[in-house]
Amino acid sequence: MRRPPGGRQRVAELEGQLRELRAYYEDLLGSLQDGLLILDGQGGILSMNQAAEELTGLSASQTMGRVIGDAFPPLASLAAKTLAAGRSHADFDGVLLRADGACLRVSAVASVLSDAGGTSRGVVLALRDLSRVSDLEEQVRRSERLAALGILAAGIAHEVRNPLVGVRGAAQLLEKEAAFPDQLREYTQMIVRQVDRLNRIVNDLLALGAQRPLEARPCNVHQVLEEALSLSVATLKPMGLQVARQYDPEIPAAAGDFDRLLQVFLNLIRNGIEAMPGGGALTVRTRFERAAPQCGGRPAVQVEIQDRGPGIPDKVHPRLFTPFFTSKDGGTGLGLAISLRIIEEHRGAIEAQNRSGGGATFRVFLPVVTEQKE
Ligand SMILES: Nc1ncnc2c1ncn2[C@@H]1O[C@H](COP(=O)(O)OP(=O)(O)OP(=O)(O)O)[C@@H](O)[C@H]1O
Ligand SMILES: [Mg+2]
Repeated sequence: MRRPPGGRQRVAELEGQLRELRAYYEDLLGSLQDGLLILDGQGGILSMNQAAEELTGLSASQTMGRVIGDAFPPLASLAAKTLAAGRSHADFDGVLLRADGACLRVSAVASVLSDAGGTSRGVVLALRDLSRVSDLEEQVRRSERLAALGILAAGIAHEVRNPLVGVRGAAQLLEKEAAFPDQLREYTQMIVRQVDRLNRIVNDLLALGAQRPLEARPCNVHQVLEEALSLSVATLKPMGLQVARQYDPEIPAAAGDFDRLLQVFLNLIRNGIEAMPGGGALTVRTRFERAAPQCGGRPAVQVEIQDRGPGIPDKVHPRLFTPFFTSKDGGTGLGLAISLRIIEEHRGAIEAQNRSGGGATFRVFLPVVTEQKE
């Protein structure tokens, strides 16, 4: 059959328009914030956009042709229900396992993909990352718990301090008695030591309950970290621990209180040391974040303290910042609760994660000093 004159040109024109249209739809899907998965009528994955790739940690080419139940088992019944009923469903709020093994909380909406005649051809799954929402919910719950506990702690600490001074003083007076038998000295010294320990706990409790407003000044986090490391040297050296510093030289000043930030970094460094009783390497890293989601999208200084210990067990993770939670003999479980309180007073954030190669990473985010507009 002969083509009409100009037919080849017309075909080329149409092909060009088709390419443009395809590029337009690819751009459109690519620029969506929600992850999209497009399935055929049998639940086979036809395509996924960039947000879905980022969310799941799998590329479109890795999932193409696989069925949804095989690639993402928790989404299988949502897709099947949508295909069977021929209408949209939005009742998934669950956990997806990412390709890197991390768990991700997502919500999903499944819509029927139908042709112009209304026949259903497949399903579009829209996925939304809820992990930041869960993190924020957890932060609010933690703050409320801590605020309530702080008030209670301040009351108890106030009542307990004076009797403690009395007990310590009485034990010391007893030792000074002329008739005091020397073989009992061991016990009076034990009283003094335990009272001192109780006093430290009471002081920690008071720090937790402190409600004073923070006076944040421009603070060089490298100076705070160096001070914390030099105070920890006495423990670091004998245990054969090495410290690797990876400081960002361009880092701006954080808005902070030197002494209280020092307390935070001392706690985190001590936890790192305690996680490596047989020695190892502690990495202290700083970085500037132009828009840290942990600080409401504001610019922040990030400090990372990383150890090569056994990491945080899954059971422990949700309880890390809970006052009095400890897995250590002789630990009080207040170190992280106090650190969280101090960082929240700085309007910053603190988070913990396990390294893929073993060990724990604690990250502190502190808002940077911003110039005041006159
Ligand atoms: N770097 C870490 N690696 C593994 N687990 C950790 C790490 N840091 C903290 N943890 C876990 O979190 C718990 C709470 O830590 P936190 O610093 O609040 O209290 P603690 O170290 O037990 O006692 P202390 O009040 O003396 O600091 C620890 O007992 C431990 O189980
Ligand atoms: Mg500790």
